[in-house]
Amino acid sequence: MISSERISKRVRLLGREISEVYADIETPLVIVAILKGATVFAADLLRSLAIPAELEFVRAASYGAGTRTTGRVKIAHMVEGPLAGRHVLLVEDIVDSGRTIHTILRRFRKMKPASLRVAALLDRPARREIPVHIDFTGFAIPDRFVIGYGLDYAGLYRELPGIYALS
Ligand code: IMP
Ligand code: MG
Repeated sequence: MISSERISKRVRLLGREISEVYADIETPLVIVAILKGATVFAADLLRSLAIPAELEFVRAASYGAGTRTTGRVKIAHMVEGPLAGRHVLLVEDIVDSGRTIHTILRRFRKMKPASLRVAALLDRPARREIPVHIDFTGFAIPDRFVIGYGLDYAGLYRELPGIYALS
């Protein structure tokens, strides 16, 4: 669906755009990668930034071994440092129903960050159940389950350099 070359180009552009938006902040940006799917995207995005950034992780699980959301989102690992007064950018692989990012945003708002934004490599609006605002989007994709570049099916295929529709 999306070649590794197209992904690299898009990620570099996103990095530039994000660096401009945060050009004047006084503390390093806090990148919060949502485990596990967003790790590959976050690693590339981080290296496309022209501003200082810290890296944190949050673990949210909603999918079991299937290709449809279970509707329940559990936060299984939280960031380590305090986020009050910090500029936080949540980095997600794909926004689907919107439940994962919605749950994480709600949780993070309580920590009173100076700003809270979302970068998602992929947006699949066809399956949205909860409206969410995505500040930085890589690609909007059609209603197909996708794998590769960090995205898995039952824990597999994360190593693929491009993004593929699962057949
Ligand atoms: P949401 O909560 O329904 O928006 O789902 C978002 C989460 O489900 C993402 O963080 C992904 O981990 C996972 N997910 C959703 N769609 C796909 C897909 O097509 N491939 C792999 N993982 C997916
Ligand atoms: Mg995920």
